Amino acid sequence: MSFPITRPRRLRRNALMRSFIQETRLSPKNFVYPLFVCPGSGVKHEISSMPGNYHFSIDRVGEECREVAGLGIPAVLLFGIPEAKDETGSGAYGESSIVAQAVRAIRKVVGDDLLIICDVCLCEYTSHGHCGVIKEGAVDNDPTLELLARASVSYAQAGADIVAPSDMMDGRVRAIREALDSHSLTDTAILAYSAKYASVFYGPFREAADSAPQFGDRRSYQMDPSNQREALREIALDVEEGADIVMVKPALPYLDIINRARQEFDVPLAAYQVSGEFSMIMAAARLGWMDRERAMIESLTSIRRAGADVILTYFAKDAARLLGC
Ligand code: PBG
Repeated sequence: MSFPITRPRRLRRNALMRSFIQETRLSPKNFVYPLFVCPGSGVKHEISSMPGNYHFSIDRVGEECREVAGLGIPAVLLFGIPEAKDETGSGAYGESSIVAQAVRAIRKVVGDDLLIICDVCLCEYTSHGHCGVIKEGAVDNDPTLELLARASVSYAQAGADIVAPSDMMDGRVRAIREALDSHSLTDTAILAYSAKYASVFYGPFREAADSAPQFGDRRSYQMDPSNQREALREIALDVEEGADIVMVKPALPYLDIINRARQEFDVPLAAYQVSGEFSMIMAAARLGWMDRERAMIESLTSIRRAGADVILTYFAKDAARLLGC
């Protein structure tokens, strides 16, 4: 049947009709809000490359998390800015790491009203800015695993619900699962950054986390943007190693990967709308070239439509306010 019997415009006639047949619905329940915690007290300092995002000291991050939970957002993702950096990134896994302190502080304020996810990586903590330890000028995979596992255990012991390795070392999910289990932390889940591409869209984040590599780049561990099949292989390996949730990152330039992953794996799927995706929209909006709210909702809806169950996004609070909870 075709025109004039069939007229798709009938179902686009007004807002109520359009919303009635909407296939993809966005909810604050799908969001995770990333947060940056830093040393000091009384700090709430805006990150210039990511307007509306802040570095929070431990004493200020709890109230922010209360607001996030109040908006109906179920989870935050924590990144740490350490007091000092060194060759092996000890600020990530030491006794009183900034992230472990933040987890305890947040838990006191929010109780069980918010899931606390901790990003696990060394790049914010190493003097050279790479995601693993360096041997003879290259990132050395296997010795890095133990450090990632130590960081994960310390965050889980502090009370994190989920640890999220973003380093892209081979075998890290298994190493982390084994370490958690051997410390009786069998209930701590792993959200693996499984298909993480070597992307220019992390640019603003590297200012936020002061984590730019001091030499070379991340292409020997993060994925080549040209590859699709390799993403499926990475996801399969992480699922096999014990990942509870898998992730594709970035999101909007990689909707094909999200869609393939959704079709081929029956595990919860997350996608990370990264700093560059966020800041591009903010910059265009500031120039008056695009409407910020519409760009935000359209990009988030597209990521959901492609198949992501969970979206990590710097727009989480604004989008939640707009959607209502
Ligand atoms: C740490 C990490 C990065 C991001 C999340 N975890 C930076 C990177 O890999 O360079 C990027 C997040 C963003 O851009 O919003 N490895």
